[in-house]
Amino acid sequence: MSTVLVIGANRGIGLELARELKARGHEVIATCRSSSAALDALDVETHPGVDVTSDTAVTALRKALAGRALDGLIINAGILRRTALDGIDLGVVREQLEVNAIGPLRVAAALNDLLTDGGKLCVLTSRMGSIADNTSGGSYGYRMSKAAVNAMGMSLARDLAPRRIAVALLHPGYVRTEMTGNTGHVSADEAARALVDRFEALDMEHTGVFWHANGEVLPW
Ligand SMILES: NC(=O)c1ccc[n+]([C@@H]2O[C@H](COP(=O)([O-])OP(=O)(O)OC[C@H]3O[C@@H](n4cnc5c(N)ncnc54)[C@H](OP(=O)(O)O)[C@@H]3O)[C@@H](O)[C@H]2O)c1
Repeated sequence: MSTVLVIGANRGIGLELARELKARGHEVIATCRSSSAALDALDVETHPGVDVTSDTAVTALRKALAGRALDGLIINAGILRRTALDGIDLGVVREQLEVNAIGPLRVAAALNDLLTDGGKLCVLTSRMGSIADNTSGGSYGYRMSKAAVNAMGMSLARDLAPRRIAVALLHPGYVRTEMTGNTGHVSADEAARALVDRFEALDMEHTGVFWHANGEVLPW
């Protein structure tokens, strides 16, 4: 059994990741800003009050987990806000950079020392963060924040390699959650199954990979 911490697990893909990991026999530790009936019903160790934009909250989580050994850390929390060029609100761009890029770095910086040597760190990114794959423009805040978190992931892969901690940037597919207004090609539980497959397959041969949940390697 391995112990996996999921950041942002009260709903959507994060909730289904927690459910799928537990079903496969992993010990799950879940964080959220506020819990949900669905997360409570999962009956896993839960730490509420963890906003990834808050130094205080992430420091408190680190203290609460002192002495624990993690085999996996999955940073799932994220937001998608509209930022078209016309009438762009830079505050909304900044908000996405705070949650989707600086938030994961805050969590990874605070918690990576809890990962065992040979552990795994996954970050939920998006193919919308791929510069090579950007054929439709727009979505400035979301695209910039996910490109930034991709850069973070590659640096983590380099910095954590001496401890044999493998890092992956995972695109879940187009998933029916609140983020997408429940439109998409796959359900959150289908996406979670594929993402946990990637998590389990991740090793040092793959570290630094930008992976679609279906196993396709995505272009930067
Ligand atoms: N759905 C898709 O098609 C799709 C595609 C590509 C990538 N992704 C990525 O997959 C991840 C999960 O997305 P989803 O579709 O499951 O979205 P979702 O249903 O909107 O869920 C987002 C999760 O992130 C949490 N969160 C948001 N802001 C947070 C903050 N400041 N601190 C801590 N937690 C925060 C939310 O908690 P609250 O309930 O407290 O807001 C919720 O648990 C995201 O990183 C997203 O960018 C999704």
